[in-house]
Amino acid sequence: MRIAVVGSGYVGLVTGTCFADLGHEVVLVDNDEKKLAALRNGEVPIHERFLPELLARHRGERIKFSGDLQAATRESEAVFIAVGTPPTESGDADLSYVESVAREISGGVDEYTVVVEKSTVPVYTSQWIRTIIMRNGADPSSFDVASNPEFLREGMAVTDFLYPDRIVVGVESERAAEVMREIYGPLTSGWYYGRGDAIPRPEAAKAPPRLIVTSTKSAELIKHASNAFLAMKISFVNAVASICESVGANVQQVCDGIGTDSRIGPRFLNPGIGYGGSCFPKDLMAFRAVAKESGYDFRLLEEVIRINEDQRRRFLRKVRSVLWTFRGKRLGVLGLAFKGGTDDIRESPALLLVQELLREGCHICAYDPAAMERAKEVLKSGVEFAADAYEAAEGADALLILTEWEEFASLDLERLRTLVKYPIVLDGRNLYDPALMVEHGFSYYSVGRPAALTEELPARILPQKRERA
Ligand code: UDX
Repeated sequence: MRIAVVGSGYVGLVTGTCFADLGHEVVLVDNDEKKLAALRNGEVPIHERFLPELLARHRGERIKFSGDLQAATRESEAVFIAVGTPPTESGDADLSYVESVAREISGGVDEYTVVVEKSTVPVYTSQWIRTIIMRNGADPSSFDVASNPEFLREGMAVTDFLYPDRIVVGVESERAAEVMREIYGPLTSGWYYGRGDAIPRPEAAKAPPRLIVTSTKSAELIKHASNAFLAMKISFVNAVASICESVGANVQQVCDGIGTDSRIGPRFLNPGIGYGGSCFPKDLMAFRAVAKESGYDFRLLEEVIRINEDQRRRFLRKVRSVLWTFRGKRLGVLGLAFKGGTDDIRESPALLLVQELLREGCHICAYDPAAMERAKEVLKSGVEFAADAYEAAEGADALLILTEWEEFASLDLERLRTLVKYPIVLDGRNLYDPALMVEHGFSYYSVGRPAALTEELPARILPQKRERA
């Protein structure tokens, strides 16, 4: 099929590149000439596993880059809208980029074209896109609008696209459904997985995936409801971790116990310093706003958001309770990205904590395998940046682990012990076994588990177990 993808960000670039790997002819459209030039000469602007290989495989052949959306629409059978939908002040999704793209598409709709909303958009958006395209002169019989939400995790987006748990398509006509079935045919038929050069199959893959065909409104709601449920699961486990801290239980053991229930499942039950990223925070606010607009007051989402923000405050209190005072303290910080495996710092709890610690007068020496360039633009000169985790730990009054990078879970603890000023580790992502840390001479504090100490601390510091009345 001939496909246009509008927007070359995290979603658009991965979508276009993966469609090319499925055998489609793709035009990736962007209004930023600098981005297009960089893509044409082989740069890969985002940190995504397998993206460089697939782009190199198809650049100039199956995937081309253009700034002319009308021409791209004219020569395509489907146009995927994958532009940003950032939150406005009030928390609603800003759909102005979607609207301007829809307006431009209407000028290129000649042959029957399916216009597909790939960006995460509130329910009813597909109806607005249809209205805008007709208002700008397109013949209603020459196009349909479909919803095809993405479920891509940053850092894993190519794998998530090619080995999805399911593909959701929202359409209002059988003709549009047929086009979408053909586009995803290489996956739903299993043909792609038989190819020698398919990207590696993850263990949990359900290949070939099911194609769920539903209405556009249901497809739009599936996306918001999925993200809201996942964020709720994280806030739920973080709340349970706080209760574990109060009673002296171990949240890892509690999560093992609940996660083995097949109705709950073990994934997304990792307590930490809260979720971040460009999706969960934004999507929860948008879903809450959409629910309110449609007459439902979805207060549960407010509690999910509150618990998430409180998680950072709790961790900051823990750091203070261990250091006594902040001013002038040198802290080693491991991790700035919102999660391991990505260079993205948007709504990163790690970055928000670093900014809070700077405000408290700490000296921060931070290391992140991929996010330091982006973090420098935000933190400016307030933070020292280290070449590796050990340099960040040098002379530290305490070492903080704030992002779940795999490499932070297998540090040389003997070497680390010789570098820190005091053997104190506060781990916001529960990467270590407390007993192992004590064996290596560290006092180790984590989330939802008892502190493992190698030093005497004033009794009042640690959360008191509530004595039964
Ligand atoms: C998410 C959804 O997973 C994806 O389906 C959707 O398309 C986009 O939003 P993403 O934001 O890239 O993907 O990252 P994800 O892996 O979901 O993690 C989100 C945040 O939750 C990160 O800050 C991560 O550290 C945190 N997290 C995740 C936890 O704190 N605990 C967990 O168990 C899992």
